[in-house]
Amino acid sequence: MRAQTQKSSTEESTTPADAAGIQAVTVVGAGTMGSQIAAVAALAGFRTHLVDIAQEQLDAAAEQLRGRFDRDVEKGRRSRAQVSAAWERLGTTTDRDAAAAASDIVIEAAVEDLTIKRRIFSELDAVCGPGTILATNSSNIVSSRVADAVEHPERVCNLHFFNPALVMECVELVPHPQTSPETMERAAAFTRALGKTLVTLRKEIPGFVANRLLNAIRQEALSLLDQGVADFEDIDAAARTALRHPMGPFELMDLVGVDVVHMIRQAEYEQTGDPESLPHPMITELYEAGRYGRKSGRGWYSYP
Ligand code: CAA
Repeated sequence: MRAQTQKSSTEESTTPADAAGIQAVTVVGAGTMGSQIAAVAALAGFRTHLVDIAQEQLDAAAEQLRGRFDRDVEKGRRSRAQVSAAWERLGTTTDRDAAAAASDIVIEAAVEDLTIKRRIFSELDAVCGPGTILATNSSNIVSSRVADAVEHPERVCNLHFFNPALVMECVELVPHPQTSPETMERAAAFTRALGKTLVTLRKEIPGFVANRLLNAIRQEALSLLDQGVADFEDIDAAARTALRHPMGPFELMDLVGVDVVHMIRQAEYEQTGDPESLPHPMITELYEAGRYGRKSGRGWYSYP
């Protein structure tokens, strides 16, 4: 992994040919989602810059990715050569603007705060050439809410990955009313070049498709628990063994983060004004107790 943003000829030669001219990628935000999105891009052959304002966050992300890559080699899922090449293509930096200016697509995976996202997009718009796609990984902040902060809204869209991004196949591509057909075509080609399955929405709606489906299941699970119909462990067991979901809704909340679920519902309420969108009181209770799930050691379940 490089700690700077220059490219080498070896890296360029591996860039996928069918990615609509996209060669270099910047991912803004080195949290769980951003760091794995960057790893997916580097593994697919793109020169990739992972950016964060905090060097410690970049170091922690690099450490985690190194562990994942080593495990992939140990388990025979990837060769040492594949992983080493990806590592070479992946650079970390706190100089967001230099990385973005040298990239053909920027994927923002920063904190879910509209004011911060609008500022990031307006600053990116000022340093990136007009051909650079500016995408947000958010699923609840639709891109029209950041597009009106930029001079070139036609290059803005949502490109939504799922957690864990290294594993989950789906990526949702969502336009806002002014997104150009060219941006959609190039973002679609890029997503396919990542080896992901593309789900294209015709128009934006908070939550998009997958999270809206997921939310319906989660709300029903919370309602069953609230009514005392079954314990959450049994509701999870039903989802796993009767429906063959890889995880039950409560396990999944712990994976995604109870804080993230809370924030998503709150943001949806702020956009829709519909009280049905508010976080379920049981989610709020866990959130206020700091029980965020796997990341805090305790959510619905305990993680010693
Ligand atoms: N990061 C990267 N890879 C991971 C991972 C992680 N956090 N967790 C698991 N894996 C990979 C590893 O390769 C792992 O194998 P090793 O342990 O040998 O390295 C492999 O998956 C299998 O993992 P496990 O044996 O621990 O468990 P599993 O078979 O149940 O798989 C899972 C784990 C892939 C997470 C699976 O349970 C699953 O698909 N769960 C559902 C996830 C899901 O629905 N995600 C969408 C959430 S919604 C969202 O993301 C949208 C949003 O906007 C919030």
